[in-house]
Amino acid sequence: MEMLVFGGTRSSGIAWSVAKALKSEVGKSEVKTFPDGEKYVKLLSKAEGRECAVVQSVRSNDDFMELLLMLDALRDMGAVQVHAIMPYMAYMRQDKRFTEGEALSAKTLLKVLDEFADSLTMINCHFLSEGGESFYKHVRFMNLDAVPLLVKYFRSKVKNPIVVAPDKGSMGYAKAAAEILDCDFNHLSKKRISGSEVVIKSKDLDVKGKDVIILDDIISTGGTIVESVKVIRGWKPASINVGCVHGLFLKGIESFTGVVDRLVSTDTLDNPVAKVNVADLIAEDLKR
Ligand code: R5P
Repeated sequence: MEMLVFGGTRSSGIAWSVAKALKSEVGKSEVKTFPDGEKYVKLLSKAEGRECAVVQSVRSNDDFMELLLMLDALRDMGAVQVHAIMPYMAYMRQDKRFTEGEALSAKTLLKVLDEFADSLTMINCHFLSEGGESFYKHVRFMNLDAVPLLVKYFRSKVKNPIVVAPDKGSMGYAKAAAEILDCDFNHLSKKRISGSEVVIKSKDLDVKGKDVIILDDIISTGGTIVESVKVIRGWKPASINVGCVHGLFLKGIESFTGVVDRLVSTDTLDNPVAKVNVADLIAEDLKR
């Protein structure tokens, strides 16, 4: 029997596209928020005996609660298998304890999700630099890589590319992107001063006259990219093109106007430059 694909309120559009790509049914549900902020979820499609997927980016605590309620309700209603797909998954930036006593948010959330679903899928999980099956503290999950989709977007738009990672952490993706484009890659060095302040240091990179493509997994405040662009502009590139998988854009898209030549993100989160769709990537994974 075909899969039943539910979408949380954060990702209803992607869920619809995934169901379409799989030629399967979209699960119907009702989600409300009570006056005190509590979430209410009711499944309207029959899940009994069905393999089900829930697609829900987790951007806020409410998104997470909605996802858990949906997953649990599906099991209660007799779904035979429940897959949790989080195109964007918050809280993955704290996967290490930097100082004694810090909570490992990545562990906490993944442990909880593991209890509620038969499989977990994320896209470009922050603490990984490669796609594929992965384990974190005994929790097994699939990390899908949307960077090749960003590369495909840029391929027809630039003539003389070079890929630049804003920090060493994004090097894996930059290297893979450069292989696809058959071009050079390099990286800058970033020092984070605070949640919203970064300093970019780097030896001079030879990007003169080239179309620089900066790739990062997340644009949050935008500080990393804006500071990187300031440094790269000094080296006289032909253009600066920026792509990210997860576009949070906490300070708005406007902070990039006149700063970069092109800006694009995938649609794991809604934003005005979310032009690269991840639905097919998710659908392909669900077929396996
Ligand atoms: C850092 O490790 C990430 O790859 C991003 O560079 C970072 O999260 C971006 O944050 P922001 O946009 O606030 O500089």
